[in-house]
Amino acid sequence: MSKLEQTLSIIKPDAVERNLENEIKVMFKNDGFLILKEKKIQIEKSEAENFYKVHQTKPFYNDLCSYLSSGPIIVMVLERNNAVLRNRELMGATNPKDAKEGTIRKKYGISIDKNSVHGSDSLENAKIEIDFFFKD
Ligand code: CMP
Repeated sequence: MSKLEQTLSIIKPDAVERNLENEIKVMFKNDGFLILKEKKIQIEKSEAENFYKVHQTKPFYNDLCSYLSSGPIIVMVLERNNAVLRNRELMGATNPKDAKEGTIRKKYGISIDKNSVHGSDSLENAKIEIDFFFKD
């Protein structure tokens, strides 16, 4: 069953810094995603802590929040059928060294921290994450 969904994508500081924004957007568009909304921003560490609060008990939480707030990021609302799952497939495994050929993280990821992109992990979280960045 295919259903039209929206998901949140972030192009992380390591990819923005290497000017990979356009290449990554082409990968989304070639996979059938529409970019409905986008903005380039830099967030405060406190905002990153709020965004990633599901990970607050993890040992990597502090570094993760420092990293996401360390430079400009591109936040986007992506739409297509089964967007949440398809985005996760296109991004590839969290650790780029485990990611399959043809995925964004395989192509551009540097490490588990500098893995170039974030994507919502469920439809429920997609709604929360889209609201986080785009609630007017
Ligand atoms: P992301 O999809 O943005 O969600 C949380 C991030 O935490 C993840 O990508 C990784 O960049 C980062 N991270 C760092 N260490 C780990 C780890 N051991 N397991 C999962 N994610 C990690």
